Amino acid sequence: MRRKFAAGNWKMNGLSADLAELERMVAAKPSAAVDTAVCGPATLVHRMAQMGWPVGGQDCHPAENGAHTGDISAEMLADAGASYVITGHSERRADHGETDAVVRAKTEAAWRAGLTAILCIGETEAQYRAGDTLDVLHRQMAGSMPEGCTGDTIVLAYEPVWAIGTGLTPTADEIGAVHNALRDALIDRFGPETGVAIRILYGGSVKASNAAEIFGIADVDGALVGGASLKADDFLPIVDALDAAD
Ligand code: PGA
Repeated sequence: MRRKFAAGNWKMNGLSADLAELERMVAAKPSAAVDTAVCGPATLVHRMAQMGWPVGGQDCHPAENGAHTGDISAEMLADAGASYVITGHSERRADHGETDAVVRAKTEAAWRAGLTAILCIGETEAQYRAGDTLDVLHRQMAGSMPEGCTGDTIVLAYEPVWAIGTGLTPTADEIGAVHNALRDALIDRFGPETGVAIRILYGGSVKASNAAEIFGIADVDGALVGGASLKADDFLPIVDALDAAD
C-alpha cells in the first residue's frame, strides 16, 4: 500500500539559524510509518541532508549542467544529498512562466538524477469559481506528467492555487472528489497497478488544526505543507496527525 508522506516546502525562507527547527524535528523522531521530507532553499539543502531528515529541492533545471546562470540542476541537488525535488509548483508556474512542457522536462530531469519528483498541479480561484477544476487538473496532468511514472519516482500534489498561503481550503467533500478523480486519471493513464501506487498529496493551508480532517479523506496520502513546515511546533503535529489517520 501507499506510504503516507508529509513534505514541507520552505519556499524562499530559511537562514542558517533556522536549521535549529529541523534539528528539533529530527530530535522528535516522528513515526517511521510516515515518510517525511523538507524541501529547503538551495543554500541549505546540503546542510539539511546531513542532519538525518530526507531533503528535497524546490525546483531544478531540465539540463544536467551548462550556461544557465542562477539555475540549479537535479544532479546538483542529488549531489547535495536531496532525495526529492518539487516540480511545477504554482509559484514557479506563475512567477517564472513555467508551462506544462517545462514542468515535464524538469520532472524527467529529476528522474535522470535519481530524485523523486513532487509534481504540483492546481486550479486558480477563477478556474475554481468557473467550475473548471477537474478540466484544469486533467490538462496539467496530461501535459506535465511524463510517460513512465511509477509510485517510486513521482508524487502528485494537488494544490489549489487559491488555498496556498491564504488560510482557505476546499471542503473535505471537494478535496475528496478531486483526489478521487485524480486517482481515476492515474489508473487510466498508467494502469491499475501503477495508478494506485502513486501517492497524491493535498497542499494549501494545511496546519495542525485541519490536518486530521484532511488526512481522513479517502485518497489523501499526505500533504505538501508550506508555512506550517517552517517551525517544528507546527510541522510535527501535522506528521502525527498523518500517522494517526486511517
Ligand atoms: P501553504 O503552502 O501550506 O503555506 O499554503 C503550500 C505550498 O505552497 O506548497
